[in-house]
Amino acid sequence: MTDRLTIRRPDDWHLHLRDGAMLSAVAPHTARDFGRALIMPNLVPPVTDMTAALAYRQRIQNATKGFDFTPYMALYLTEDTSPETIRAAAADDAVIAVKLYPAGATTNSASGVRHIDSVMPALEAMAETGLPLAIHGEVTTDSVDIFDREKHFIDEVLDPLRQRLPQLRVVMEHITTEDAAHYVSSSDTGLAATITVHHLMITRNHILAGGIRPHYYCLPVAKRSRHRDALIAAAVSGDPRYFMGTDSAPHTDHAKLSPCGCAGMFTAPVAMACLAEVFSGQGHLDRLEGFASVFGANFYGFSPSEQTITLRRHDTPVPVTPIIEADGDQVTVFDPMTPVHWSVEVEAEKKA
Ligand code: DOR
Ligand code: ZN
Repeated sequence: MTDRLTIRRPDDWHLHLRDGAMLSAVAPHTARDFGRALIMPNLVPPVTDMTAALAYRQRIQNATKGFDFTPYMALYLTEDTSPETIRAAAADDAVIAVKLYPAGATTNSASGVRHIDSVMPALEAMAETGLPLAIHGEVTTDSVDIFDREKHFIDEVLDPLRQRLPQLRVVMEHITTEDAAHYVSSSDTGLAATITVHHLMITRNHILAGGIRPHYYCLPVAKRSRHRDALIAAAVSGDPRYFMGTDSAPHTDHAKLSPCGCAGMFTAPVAMACLAEVFSGQGHLDRLEGFASVFGANFYGFSPSEQTITLRRHDTPVPVTPIIEADGDQVTVFDPMTPVHWSVEVEAEKKA
């Protein structure tokens, strides 16, 4: 059995870093293992224009000094986003996507999109300039069951939109269903999807069976095992339309462990170790590099990194630090509830 695997330095194409003290606490965990990341704009207030995006980018660079890490920004699409804002974003290398949150779909999405017609001028400018749209693909209709919201979004919003604007490049973010995987796999050009590490490892049982576990609550919510299996099959398939976006989304334990807890899991510190566990469990370690380090870079027009990281397999499961301190509180690190035998080798180990 392989006990060391060296791959090009991976990228995280969907990441929440927050701001202020939380940013300083969490960003180094990503910058240690990843070369680039696409930073989500759902701050309060949201990152809706170039001035805010470039200022936020600078704060991230300050928080990751000394690491081989470059943040790229996504602008937050609102019903007021003008085609001029889109053209300015498309002309600046720092911004590589625009994020569509249906209003009310998730954390800090209140300024998001209520009706797709209201953002057509902005989307048309994106189609013209080639700036990709990163979509949180869930309807928010109260009457639609939360486990069905992704499928409804594909049928009612995404597919009609893609027919209306075939030139628009779309990333369906953090897909959670076999319906989404089937939709992506059977599409022609212009559609890709990110898959998170946690959706490859957990099902809704982690949240609800044997007691309610708020740390496993995220959006889109984890589904039944049939869907997780479809995501695993897509991730290890070697199909370049699927690439990693961790959606690592830290919240303090105070905010998670509440009668109305926040959605999101802090996976960044363990993402690559967990991913190696999933790919080795499928007998497809050879395809980890494509998923984590190549396909996303290619989609966004970058060359894959010339740097490498080495993952090491241990005979006994590797314990991880379960909690980090941030913002005067604690943030719990994702625990997949299954043994993980991999770790990212650090400099000291390499020299040993
Ligand atoms: O679980 C999630 N957390 N899903 C999202 O879409 C947003 C994220 C967050 O920002 O906390
Ligand atoms: Zn997200």
